[in-house]
Amino acid sequence: MPRYHLTTFGCQMNAHDSERMRGLLGSLGYHESPDRDAADLIVFNTCTIRGSADERFMGNLGEARRIKRERPDVVVAVGGCWAQSQKESVFRDFPFVDIAFGPGEVNRLGELLARERLQAVGAFTFDGRFSGDLPSLRERPHQAWVQISVGCNCVCSYCIVPTVRGRESSRSPQAILEEVAAQADDGVVEVTLLGQNVNSYGRDLPADARMGFAELLAAVAAVPGIRRVRYTSPHPKDIRADVIAVHRDVPEVCTHIHLPAQSGSSRVLKAMRRTYDRQRYLDLVGRIREGVPDIALTTDLIVGFPGESDADFADTESLVREVGYDGAYTFVYSARPGTEAGEQMDDDVPPEAKSERIAGLIEVVQATARERLARHVGRVAEVLVEGPSRTDPSRMSGRSSHNVTVNFDGAAEAGTIVPVAIDAATSTTLAGHRVPVPQPAGAA
Ligand code: SAH
Ligand code: SF4
Ligand code: F3S
Repeated sequence: MPRYHLTTFGCQMNAHDSERMRGLLGSLGYHESPDRDAADLIVFNTCTIRGSADERFMGNLGEARRIKRERPDVVVAVGGCWAQSQKESVFRDFPFVDIAFGPGEVNRLGELLARERLQAVGAFTFDGRFSGDLPSLRERPHQAWVQISVGCNCVCSYCIVPTVRGRESSRSPQAILEEVAAQADDGVVEVTLLGQNVNSYGRDLPADARMGFAELLAAVAAVPGIRRVRYTSPHPKDIRADVIAVHRDVPEVCTHIHLPAQSGSSRVLKAMRRTYDRQRYLDLVGRIREGVPDIALTTDLIVGFPGESDADFADTESLVREVGYDGAYTFVYSARPGTEAGEQMDDDVPPEAKSERIAGLIEVVQATARERLARHVGRVAEVLVEGPSRTDPSRMSGRSSHNVTVNFDGAAEAGTIVPVAIDAATSTTLAGHRVPVPQPAGAA
């Protein structure tokens, strides 16, 4: 029985594509091996968003080279965004790589593998198809990712994603809703809709089959058995009133929006080509909070973008305080080949300033998140139980609708949603104890 070993880098899209690779390889009779050294097929699903992603992968690829030297029959397959970015040179620079495929080509992994085993590798092409239509081996039994679109039509000047994932293309609402219904039948209660810019969903669909993002959210939430709907990542420019209304009116749609800001400085935002300035972003936050006052907001922030001054950076820190984020991912700018910023802007913020800024920003993010999460103490949260806590297996762990990890005492079954009284908060987690399900008033 052939065995494969799969290593995944990068974002949720890649994690989801890897589920498809597992499904596909399983259907071809491969079994997963936890040990790369024992595998007949070594697969990497790669990321190239920052230089650090490339470096991490290079270390792993070096391991594959060593294994291939020891066992020349091993097949090395490299998929994902880095593979796409290197499609011209990968076989020349890394001759021990047998198969390369882009993120839109997960479906071809099986075919390429068959050809490789017949020793007849042809030229490979990169075409777009939804990996969402392939068999899947889900990571978690009660939660699922659902791909709703591929690619991105934005032109954020620092970002390599449009180059490697291509133009935006929406999957049909029927295919999405059928997949969600099948997942629900299979025990899934929470779905996360995935796209590089999820909320521009549907604009490219034919007029007679068009469905907007807000409508899709509501339709997914209405699938019997689905109790929670999340999505990532939206672009602030495409959050419309109808999306806020769905958050307000549809209980299955979670009390959380990940709203990447990237910077708090209007000048930097302009150079990033984000198409909004600080004030427009803050206005949007105001409209969201008007609709759903308690909503959790998280974000992505970049420090050290070309030309970022101390004053620009101070604007990013003050944005964090002003919005009051429940959490944020912070990144140091990394010049990417082929992007506008990477090619045409001088990466002029000194490394020391970048390190100092990221450290300062993390402190502000943590302090703000700690203050925000403290509001949950004394409340009862609805927690979707995932299983025993990783840090303390005597307790259970799950997530609130606000997308915060909640560790709690008391018995609970994975996949159920249970009430938990919150006793304490850190900047990233909540702790509490299970309480009885409230009985409706008048029931005796
Ligand atoms: N499509 C999503 C995610 C893009 S990648 C979105 O637009 O939200 C995830 C995050 O990586 C981005 O939000 C951005 O903060 C960061 N990022 C992208 N390119 C980067 C670069 N060249 N250097 C540093 N961070 C980057
Ligand atoms: Fe990259 Fe911008 Fe598209 Fe996000 S919206 S994937 S940051 S180009
Ligand atoms: Fe990386 Fe590709 Fe995702 S570059 S962040 S794996 S879209």
